[in-house]
Amino acid sequence: MYIIGGTTSEKVAKDLCKELQVSLVKMISKRFPDDELYIRILDDISKEHVVIIQTTYPDQKIIELFLLQEAVREAGAKKITVVIPYFGYARQDKKFKDGEPVSAKTMAKLISLNADKVITVDPHKEYILDFFTIPAFSCSAVPEIAKYLNKKKNIDMVLAPDKGALERAKQASTIIGCDFDYMEKTRIDGTTVKIKPKNLNVRNKNVAIIDDIISTGGTMAKSIKELKKHGAKRVLVACTHGLFAGEAIKKLKSAGCDEIISTDTIRSDFSKVKIAPCISKLI
Ligand code: R5P
Repeated sequence: MYIIGGTTSEKVAKDLCKELQVSLVKMISKRFPDDELYIRILDDISKEHVVIIQTTYPDQKIIELFLLQEAVREAGAKKITVVIPYFGYARQDKKFKDGEPVSAKTMAKLISLNADKVITVDPHKEYILDFFTIPAFSCSAVPEIAKYLNKKKNIDMVLAPDKGALERAKQASTIIGCDFDYMEKTRIDGTTVKIKPKNLNVRNKNVAIIDDIISTGGTMAKSIKELKKHGAKRVLVACTHGLFAGEAIKKLKSAGCDEIISTDTIRSDFSKVKIAPCISKLI
């Protein structure tokens, strides 16, 4: 088996090589003067099982994944597994209004063209795995996040920012050995959410809020403010996919966030939890 790390996931690929005791494929990757991408695989991977790791975010990285898949197929690989740490476009998982594409399905169909198996991490909704025309699997980063939270953070309660994320909060609370609950969120539009105050007893407690994605930070910022208003001592926010779009970090900090935690599905200064251990089990 060989592993290829796309430019979004070089570190994850190295971690996986260590976990699985396999080699990283040597390759060249550069840009033409007009910014088009050139890639070339240098190792002989014919008749091998090749695992490509690439997050499909931002858009440019999707093209890179397609080129990597094509190059691996052309080089005669026996089996191609595509690992997508963060599956971009997963949130458009249905037609919300007439005239819209189901973007997650478009992505899945195209990725399926040159792959035999797909693995992703905490997809926004599990059913998007059915959009692939090849076997597709997901793993959860929650156990790794919970292990991190269990180290000297003295978490008293894990909260989900909405009912849909309750399972994640429950799973983390079981590992930490603390209470769990959820808040009531109503999404007004892409950047505005309303968090309804709930009868939560968080006074003097250390609370961790867990979600799959932090994008604009709006959901978490509103939740933090609500919890601090109800007397929470410390509020930590943790997510699998830290997109941190626009002013997200500023928003979280000014809401009174005590720590921001993310995995390395999308690398940032807050990637404190490694994703490789959860992926390696599925490879
Ligand atoms: C939505 O259902 C997701 O689980 C996240 O809560 C959402 O994507 C977070 O977005 P934002 O950070 O922009 O509020």
